[in-house]
Amino acid sequence: MRVGVLTGGGDCPGLNAVIRAVVRKGERQYGDRLVGFRDGWKGVIDNVTMPLDVERCRGILPRGGTILGTSRTNPYKVDEGVARVLKTLDAEAVDALVAIGGEDTLGVAHRLEGEGVRVVGVPKTIDNDLSATEVTFGFHTAVQIATDAIDRLHTTAESHDRVMVVEVMGRHAGWIATYAGIAGGAAEILVPEEEFDIDVVSDMIRRRHAQGRFASIVVVAEGAKPKAGSMAVQSGEVDQFGHVRLGGIGNQVAEEIEKRTGFETRVTILGHVQRGGTPTAFDRILATRFGVAAIDAVHDGAFGQMVALQAGDIVRVPLADAVGELKTVDPSLLHGVADTFFG
Ligand code: F6P
Repeated sequence: MRVGVLTGGGDCPGLNAVIRAVVRKGERQYGDRLVGFRDGWKGVIDNVTMPLDVERCRGILPRGGTILGTSRTNPYKVDEGVARVLKTLDAEAVDALVAIGGEDTLGVAHRLEGEGVRVVGVPKTIDNDLSATEVTFGFHTAVQIATDAIDRLHTTAESHDRVMVVEVMGRHAGWIATYAGIAGGAAEILVPEEEFDIDVVSDMIRRRHAQGRFASIVVVAEGAKPKAGSMAVQSGEVDQFGHVRLGGIGNQVAEEIEKRTGFETRVTILGHVQRGGTPTAFDRILATRFGVAAIDAVHDGAFGQMVALQAGDIVRVPLADAVGELKTVDPSLLHGVADTFFG
């Protein structure tokens, strides 16, 4: 078979491990000819390809990013986008496509399946907010990076008796904030799932510092929202999937805490550091398992399906289940585990 591979959306540690696994098993065990599309759906629309074979995939397992490149291009928002995708797949004689991406990329895959495209999905996102899979690769790496940063912030915060606000990624879901906050011993965690009250946060920090010299780490997900009317909110550019560019709530939270408590407050915005660099062993293994399962799914004709992790096993789920609803943080993690250590 001739199998196309693309990576779409924000990059994520582990993408190369998936590509390597698809190529390895495809070429060596199924006798497939693989072709890479550059920069997500953009490469399919414009027919920009890259040869993919076992030799080209050597050494990429521990490398972050994606050798195929990526973009947030949405064929449904580009002139003749869908027709151009179909034309390219025909011109390249592609029998099946493996689309590696998050909610947006897989949402497009799901719609294209309705147009007759034979596609299998692989879930990726550091945000871990895709339904139907217990975890996405990249999440574990992002949590480790954020936890390492929080560990470092503790010592400088303690030396100066300061409040440290750490902004992490998480547009719609606070998985990274919650996991890194628990692992890093945060005094407060603010997530998109629950509006926060800056007065309550500030009171808690005041009470904590009244007990003596205490540094406080406040972990804020970039998508965290203040209670209506309590603080100024930001706005930004919107991409082809309608997402606002985030980043900056940490600054606002830090400013408001300092104003209300009088405690010196500093902010660290981790940003894309969380997405860069080498994947953890866990993510390399999960990504490899997903890649192997994806090429198996192609050969079983399981189109319109996504590979997923459930109860430790790799399973197949309909793409529709993965993109229907975002997976948000389990409230029992925040209320019952994380908040045991707040204040
Ligand atoms: O979707 C993953 C993500 O890392 C989000 O957490 C974040 O809001 C976004 O990507 C950032 O996107 P960009 O790389 O386009 O700035």
